[in-house]
This record gives sequence, structure tokens and C-alpha cells, in this order.
Amino acid sequence: MALPRGLPDGPHLDDDAVWRMDEDPATVLGSLQQQYGDIFTVHRSGAAPRVVLTSDSHIRELIKRDPDLYACGTSQFAQLVGRQSVNMLSGEPHRRMRQLLLPPLHGHALAGRVPRIRGIMREEFDRLRGADPVPLLQFTSEIALRVTASVLFSPMSAAQVRELCAPLMEIIEGIHQHRSVPPADRSAESVTSAREAFARQRARLDENLSAQVAAHRSNPDSDPASLLGQLLSAPVALTDQQILDQLATMLVAGHLTTASGLAMAAYWMQRPGEHAAAAAAELDALADDHSAADLAALHHVTAFCDEVLRIGSVVPHSSGRRTAGPVRAFGYELPAGTELIVSLHLAHRRPEVYPDPEEFDPRRFVDSPPSATTFVPFGMGVRRCPGAALATLEMKIFLACLRRTPGLELIGADVPFRTVSFGSTLAPPTQIRLRRTV
Ligand code: HEM
Repeated sequence: MALPRGLPDGPHLDDDAVWRMDEDPATVLGSLQQQYGDIFTVHRSGAAPRVVLTSDSHIRELIKRDPDLYACGTSQFAQLVGRQSVNMLSGEPHRRMRQLLLPPLHGHALAGRVPRIRGIMREEFDRLRGADPVPLLQFTSEIALRVTASVLFSPMSAAQVRELCAPLMEIIEGIHQHRSVPPADRSAESVTSAREAFARQRARLDENLSAQVAAHRSNPDSDPASLLGQLLSAPVALTDQQILDQLATMLVAGHLTTASGLAMAAYWMQRPGEHAAAAAAELDALADDHSAADLAALHHVTAFCDEVLRIGSVVPHSSGRRTAGPVRAFGYELPAGTELIVSLHLAHRRPEVYPDPEEFDPRRFVDSPPSATTFVPFGMGVRRCPGAALATLEMKIFLACLRRTPGLELIGADVPFRTVSFGSTLAPPTQIRLRRTV
């Protein structure tokens, strides 16, 4: 069948409009969908045309075509995670790298880590006692970083993780500051100084990670089951740079995403109303020393977490897939060099799949488990998030700790739900703070 040649319709955006889209992808892509339909192209100056996909039939087709579609990533992201990062690789090298990274992140490997993860969270909730209220996102970010580090490396204290990741935190802060200013208002000096600061901190992060690699190699008590242990015992030895890039990727990808997810879960758990009652009852009946199997059996909590991730779409869109040559797909003959993304936010708001999509209602997942083409908080196909099992496990343990910690109060959370851009993720409003009164 003859298909229209070329790209679907869509707007040409200048730098400021692209900035506004990145700052508020939910609103901007939503209005573009209303204007252009379920598939549209965003043209940006100096970048590949970006085709935005939004429906389950698009997702089904993308999953089928994923391996032969693309080269992935943008140069800006490459600087952060490194050119050898799994997120930057394509084809066979990508598949091989994922094979190395996945085993320590599988559910059964994580089951043994539940006591350690719970211990980290309890320590963090204990540190709230007598302290001033802390921004909720700062609190969940500290937890997410420590938990990710506990899977990557041998056990470390909070202070060691903080020191290791200090350059990463400075990079993230720098990116926030830089992105808070519209491109037209940025001076040439501010752009140069942001670039230089980024390069300095990125080199420091590599130094810190190299020290971890050296320590792991020289210490006979190092954890062989940690992700670093697995990378070091790869059947075909990896170069040091390959190892550093995977570690940086995991810290970046596993950190802000999970921090936002935990913060959203806390928001919805503490909101007045009946929506959280069934999940709360399950959490309250859980043993203090619960296992991964106990957590997996909590149907209402699972549905609650799924609904948190659906309505919040922590990661608003998938990684880009770049067509390697002309491709007949999604009803078009797309040219080579087209970037394809799935708007996870819009996919989670299709009223024919999710009636009243703006309503938080975990019951929609209780009797009908989510489908891989309509529920996509972790993406899909060959690039589906390798940290999905860890992130959901963390959410459940976090909620159990939240319910068990007396005297917790969320300040500034009595506002209707909306998301704000937080790095490349969406988070609940950043002014929400957490206080512990006893
Ligand atoms: C709530 C938490 C998280 C969410 C919502 C999330 C979501 C996502 C999404 C949407 C993608 C892109 C998938 C695609 O393009 O199809 C992705 C990729 C990725 N995520 Fe996550 N993620 C989370 C936590 C984590 C954690 C905890 C880790 C690791 C410790 C992690 C590691 C990665 C990596 C390495 C990739 C790149 C995979 C590839 O390119 O093959 N993520 N994630």
C-alpha cells in the first residue's frame, strides 16, 4: 500500500519554544496533539525532526521495529553519561551491554537486597527527627542515590555516597540553573562558564568512579554480585571507560527518576480521600522484616504504584530512536535520520484506555493488570528501562517506611496534582517539604 512520503504534520519551533516544551512537556505536547492528532512532527533548528508517537498502536509497532530503527541519543546526553553508555549504543553492542547490566537488576537478584534498601530508608527517615523540614524531592533524591549506589557498589555509608556523587549533584544543580533561563536570555559568558563547570565536574565524577573501581579490584571483600562486580567479571573484558560510563549512566538514570517517583508516591499516599485506603491497609499489615515476595503479593499497593507512575509519567517521553535509513512505519514513509519518541505522558492519558485520565484511581489496575502497550512508564521494547524492578521495589519499601514512621507531615502538599520539570523528569511541585514531629 502506498504511504504518504515524508514526515507527519507539525510545528517548527524556535529555541525558546523548544525550551518551553522541555520545561512543560505535558502541556505543550498535549496541545500539539489536539492540533495535529496522534502523530506529529516537531521541527527544531539544528536538530533532527522529531516525530512524536502517542497511541498503543504506535507503541506496538515501535516494539516490533525497535531493533532495526535507530541510532540513539543526543550529543548533550552523551556528555553526561559517556559515549560508551548503554543509552548511547545501538544494535548488537547495545544488546550485549544490556545483557551485562540486567542480571543484578532482576527481581530475584534484588530480593536479597531488600533488608539493605529498607535499612537505608529507615536511616533517612530517622535523620528527619528534630531536623528542620526538608524539601521532599531532596529527601527522596538522597534515598534514590543511596539505593542505586547500594546496587552498583559494595556497601557504603551515606557520607561515602555523598562524597562519591558530589560532582554529579553539582552537575545536576548546574543543569537546573542553566535550564531555568530561556535561551534568548543566556549570555555567551554564562553558556561558556556552564560548559566549563560541567566539564570539570564530569572529570571529577570519573575520578571518583575510577577510585571505586580500583577499590573494588583490590579489596577481596568486595561484593561480586554488585553491578560493578558483574561488569568487572564480564566474559569479554570491558575497558575502564566502558565501565565508568555504565556506572555514570546508572547513577544518572536511577537517581532523579526514582526520586520523582518516590516523591509522587508520598504525595498521593498523604492526600486526603479514599484513593489510598486499600494500599495503606496492605502496607500497615506488612511484617516489619518483609521480604520481596511479601511486597510482590500486595495487589493494592502494586496498583497504587502503577497509578502513581501512570498519572505522573515521571519520564515524560521515551529515549529517541533515530531511523537508520528510510522506514515504512506508523503510516508514513519516514526519511532516514528521523528521531522517534513516544510521549509516555500522552500514552497514559488516552481516555479510551484510561477513562477520566486526570483522576488518580488505583482501582483501574486492581483487576486488570497493565498492558505493555498502554502502560509504559519504563518505556518499551529493546530499550525498556533495566531499572524498572528496582524502582518499583523501592517505591513499595518507601511507602511501607512512610506508613510506619510516626509524626510525618507533608507541608505544602494540599495543592491539586501537577508536575514540574526536574532535570529530564517530571516531579511533584518542588516546594513540598517533609517534617517529622516525633
Ligand atoms: C521511577 C523510576 C524510573 C523510571 C520512571 C524510568 C524510566 C525510564 C524510561 C522511560 C527509559 C527509556 C526507555 C525507552 O526509551 O524505551 C529508561 C531508560 C533507562 N533507565 Fe530507567 N527509569 C527509572 C529508574 C531507573 C533505575 C533505578 C535505573 C538503574 C539503576 C534506571 C536505568 C535506566 C537505563 C540504564 C536506561 C537506558 C536503557 C537503554 O538505553 O537501553 N532507571 N528509564
